[in-house]
Amino acid sequence: MSADLTIHDLVVARAGRQVLHGLELSVPAGAVTALLGPNGAGKSSLVLALGGLLPLEQGSVRLGDRELAGASPDTVRKAGLAVVPEGRWLLRGLTVEDNLQVATYPLSRREARAGRERALALFPELEKRLTSQASLLSGGEQQMVALAQALATNPRVLVVDELSLGLAPVVVRRLAPVLEQVAAEGTAVLLIEQFAEVALGVAHHAHVIQGGRLAFSGGAQELRDNPELLSGAYLHA
Ligand SMILES: Nc1ncnc2c1ncn2[C@@H]1O[C@H](COP(=O)(O)OP(=O)(O)OP(=O)(O)O)[C@@H](O)[C@H]1O
Ligand SMILES: [Mg+2]
Repeated sequence: MSADLTIHDLVVARAGRQVLHGLELSVPAGAVTALLGPNGAGKSSLVLALGGLLPLEQGSVRLGDRELAGASPDTVRKAGLAVVPEGRWLLRGLTVEDNLQVATYPLSRREARAGRERALALFPELEKRLTSQASLLSGGEQQMVALAQALATNPRVLVVDELSLGLAPVVVRRLAPVLEQVAAEGTAVLLIEQFAEVALGVAHHAHVIQGGRLAFSGGAQELRDNPELLSGAYLHA
């Protein structure tokens, strides 16, 4: 079942300092929404807050009609919101198979099996790496495992922080279409990037965040057609 993600008046602090100041954002089902912004804009803080990994000072995070503000990471994931944090948080000493298994532990055995199959269908490259230790994989393969972990839970909302970080363009071109495919199947996808090109290549909707506040909201095409809107946001960071 698909559902929209609706963020309202979100306030988040890091080390006692507010970094998101009443953020409003909606991530509709069946589409890719890009969130762009310069270093320190608050993108990763938003991802951690959505995943239940950082407390909220204020605000609402609704998945369909369910309120998730203040929920634990396990509750958030069970409700259908999966986050892929910046930097690929894998269990590096464990195999790819074990990493997939860990990701699906809150699910029933039947759901976990179906999720594993779905993830491997999206990333068949991982089939031959299942018994490899995660630390021995390339950066691109590690990003595939991180995405596979999230997708194995069959999420209604998928949030990906810096898909392209440290990856060669050819690898990014392999990964980005998977997000389009997942969105086409009904998932609400939020793709966060510091680099606009990747995200705007696959996104339908786009937002720019700057200093913890929205600087632009509109269609991805609009932002592609107006690069000065984007460079303005980066220049005034
Ligand atoms: N662990 C932390 N402790 C204290 N402050 C932090 C911490 N992590 C981030 N911050 C601060 O929070 C603000 C937002 O940072 P955040 O990492 O969310 O930005 P970002 O948009 O993801 O940046 P980047 O593009 O560099 O990933 C910045 O001012 C940053 O210095
Ligand atoms: Mg970040």
